[in-house]
Amino acid sequence: MKIAVNTGGGDAPGLNAVIRSVVLAASKKGWEVYGIKYGYRGLIDTKQIIRLTPSDVWDITNIGGTILGTAIKGDPFNFQVAKSDGTIAETDISDTIVSNFKALGLDALIAIGGDGSLRIANKFFKKGMPIIGVPKTIDNDICSTDVTFGFDTAVNTATEAIDKLHTTAKSHDRVMVVEVMGRYVGWIALHSGISGSADAILIPEIPFDLEKVCNKIRQLALIGQDYAIVVVAEGAKPIGGDITILEKAHLGGEIRLGGIGRKVSDLIGSMTGKETRHIVLGHLQRGGAPTTFDRLLALRFGAAAVRLAEAGKFGSMVALHSNDIVSVSIEDAVREMKCISSDSDIIITARSLGISFGD
Ligand code: F6P
Repeated sequence: MKIAVNTGGGDAPGLNAVIRSVVLAASKKGWEVYGIKYGYRGLIDTKQIIRLTPSDVWDITNIGGTILGTAIKGDPFNFQVAKSDGTIAETDISDTIVSNFKALGLDALIAIGGDGSLRIANKFFKKGMPIIGVPKTIDNDICSTDVTFGFDTAVNTATEAIDKLHTTAKSHDRVMVVEVMGRYVGWIALHSGISGSADAILIPEIPFDLEKVCNKIRQLALIGQDYAIVVVAEGAKPIGGDITILEKAHLGGEIRLGGIGRKVSDLIGSMTGKETRHIVLGHLQRGGAPTTFDRLLALRFGAAAVRLAEAGKFGSMVALHSNDIVSVSIEDAVREMKCISSDSDIIITARSLGISFGD
């Protein structure tokens, strides 16, 4: 067999571990492995395809990012190019990609990506490409898998930051508002906020009333805690309000969320009279070495993807179910976003600990 691997969407710690596992597991079977650079771009300009051998990947398990590069923009089914008159032209270049893939004599593509990239992978599968999906994202918003790799590392980074903010918040009697990533779901905010002993956590799944958060801060002062930590997911929104956008989508990209942390901080300041500061953790959450959990999950996903390719189970995605690696259909996995249910144990736990969701 001759297989290819690519990484699409925002990077996540653990991508290199999957690549290493794919290369080692496939090479052990005597297969050839090729890396497609920058998502599907390497299948438009096939000079961007590189041979990957075990010696290329020996030491990359613990390295963040992706040795293949990745791309957020450039959906081949809806490829956008800027014309000289300033307008945008949209074309479907997926046929070129399929024919280049066939011309290279490849037997399978292991596509490592988040919801957007897996949706594209599924469309290619429907066009006849032999695709196996591997779910990645720090946001943890992909259905059909208990968790994605990258999430644990991002939560660790955020928790460590929140831990550090406690001492400075306490020393100055301030409210520190920490904005974390996660797009339209609150998994990173919820897990890091609980682990980092936040006083309030604002997530997209539970629209907030800031007066409730301010009441929590006032109550804390009454029992002698003159500081507070508020963790805000970038996609959090007030009851009846909208998400805060940093930048609109352009040229095939996605809208950029951000700015809710600053808004919440300013409003808490004016509503409570307390001194507030806000911090945006941003891309720090996507960087660094993957945690042991993410390394193991990524290595297990990579090896399982090779087994699925060998079995010819194309159109399927590797997933974690109660500590077992299973295969699910990509189509099912991308049908909807995995949101936090308001009656889940983790929300109940947070409420038992006295954490406010502003509801
Ligand atoms: O999907 C992962 C993610 O890090 C989101 O949490 C965040 O909204 C987005 O990507 C940021 O994307 P970019 O790298 O384009 O700024």
